[in-house]
Amino acid sequence: MIKPVYSTSLGKAFCGDALSVMREIPTDSIDLVLTSPPYALHFKTEYGNADQQNYVNWFSPFGSEILRILSPRGALF
Ligand SMILES: C[S@@+](CC[C@H](N)C(=O)[O-])C[C@H]1O[C@@H](n2cnc3c(N)ncnc32)[C@H](O)[C@@H]1O
Repeated sequence: MIKPVYSTSLGKAFCGDALSVMREIPTDSIDLVLTSPPYALHFKTEYGNADQQNYVNWFSPFGSEILRILSPRGALF
């Protein structure tokens, strides 16, 4: 299991590839996913982004994991 970089009695913070981290999180256990992912831009950014044609395929595994880990009353922003 990945180790948190910070934790309190209220929760834990992890630093890493979001997909790998989410795959270690139990199903229906998260109340809020707040994300600012790379966008489907027509130009390449410094941190890397899929081109517009491949964006949905690139993002789909993240979407599946977000849906799996969010509790039924959870929210995605
Ligand atoms: C649109 S920017 C968001 C920037 C952020 N809102 C900020 O103020 O620093 C997208 C960010 O996602 C990061 N990123 C890209 N792929 C990632 C991944 N698989 N896991 C975690 N972060 C990722 C990039 O490094 C980049 O910093």
